[in-house]
Amino acid sequence: MITDFNSTNAPIYISKMQHELYGRELRAHVITFGCQQNEADSERIMGILISMGYKYCDNPVDADIVIVNTCAIRHHAEMKALSLLGSFKVQRKNNPDFILGICGCMANEPHIADKLKKDFHYVNFTLEPGRYEHIPELVYKSYIDKKRTFMLGTEIPDIVEDIPVNRVSSHKAWVSIMYGCNNFCTYCIVPYVRGRERSRNSADVINECKDLILSGVKEIMLLGQNVNSYKSDITFPQLLKSISDIPGDFIIRFMTSHPKDTSDELIDVMASNIDKIAPFFHLPLQSGSNSILKSMNRTYTREKYLYIANQLKEKIPNIALSTDVIVGFPGENEEDFLDTISIIKEINFDNVYAFIYSEREGTRAATMINKVDEIVKHNRLNMLLKIQDEIAFSKNIPYENTVCKVLVDSCDIREGTEIYNGRTMTGKLVHFTSDKKCIGQFVNVKINKANAFDLIGELAN
Ligand code: 5AD
Ligand code: SF4
Repeated sequence: MITDFNSTNAPIYISKMQHELYGRELRAHVITFGCQQNEADSERIMGILISMGYKYCDNPVDADIVIVNTCAIRHHAEMKALSLLGSFKVQRKNNPDFILGICGCMANEPHIADKLKKDFHYVNFTLEPGRYEHIPELVYKSYIDKKRTFMLGTEIPDIVEDIPVNRVSSHKAWVSIMYGCNNFCTYCIVPYVRGRERSRNSADVINECKDLILSGVKEIMLLGQNVNSYKSDITFPQLLKSISDIPGDFIIRFMTSHPKDTSDELIDVMASNIDKIAPFFHLPLQSGSNSILKSMNRTYTREKYLYIANQLKEKIPNIALSTDVIVGFPGENEEDFLDTISIIKEINFDNVYAFIYSEREGTRAATMINKVDEIVKHNRLNMLLKIQDEIAFSKNIPYENTVCKVLVDSCDIREGTEIYNGRTMTGKLVHFTSDKKCIGQFVNVKINKANAFDLIGELAN
């Protein structure tokens, strides 16, 4: 019997199970909810499972182990994950050795961990974000000890380098550069479930980027809950500059930024490295009302946000701006909401991700008394989306009859024709026809038609 089940000897055990118990290879599947950070984490979870000897399988129904990587940002995300878990009850019944693990933000909420323990007896383990190196040990406990384990984070996990990664794309790569959040916006659960900010060493990040570029990756997406508060031996603008100095044909994107860390230095680095750093900035606004921003603990004012947006527009020609907005935060009156609408109109965002405020247990906003009526929240969201749709369309019109550089992601067959899908450097979705195979390449596309949410074109000569 193997007693120390870690990533080194896990393959021996898995292979033993394959031959002695199953007579076939063991299969694994990872399901992801939520943000890009979770997508990136899932590539590591799958990487660990593969290094243990599992084979990736497309369909969770065929898997011997399923890990669900969850999101806790809004109530709806949690409900979706919990209702999905129900479907694994039968899978366990049919295969008593089937393993179900829950990772990600929900797994680190004490009330959810309790619920999973009590009501979902077929969940083998939960694991907080950022401790994926424990997966082999948790799998061992499930198989050998038949023990259920519920790991809740009590201390901030160290950054573990060199975890195997099973990257989904060969031309786009996520690179996490920092983890956690220190900001405690009063509505947000992230600082509670992902812990305090910690940044990777710049040398580790830069070496990872160099390897990716050498392997042919064309787009590097730097990730962090507060990506621009990255701080190790160098600052975020310095890191961006160092990555853009790596020779090669690639672009850099990053997300998600906080206005308080969006310095003139950062904007200047973007402006002077426009060939490598995409002219796109996602900058969550959350509200256009100073009193709501204060109550959200966002630490900037409407005026400061406008200053940053104007600097970005002035220094980086044709930059695309996108943002996150919450409607119906406690205490938001009509005037506050109209302040949000007016700043959205003033800035002319290319894209706005608007969310209805969702109360999160344990956050400061959950204890605020002046809640906004559900119908009012929905009406505000609908009004905002309608206005933004018109703005998005007006921002896309100037692309008509221009030629754009596009990184090509995929191809679909529609009515017998190959339609390629990609994104401009400003992050706009483009569908175009091409007589040459071009997935994973930069190409020039002539835009023939602009819609609110995509551009239609053809490969330019
Ligand atoms: N309710 C609604 N939206 C939220 N967000 C974060 N927390 C909440 C919440 N409790 C939104 C913010 C953030 C985005 C990722 O999700 O706009 O920027
Ligand atoms: Fe949440 Fe605010 Fe941190 Fe973003 S900056 S993760 S919204 S607490």
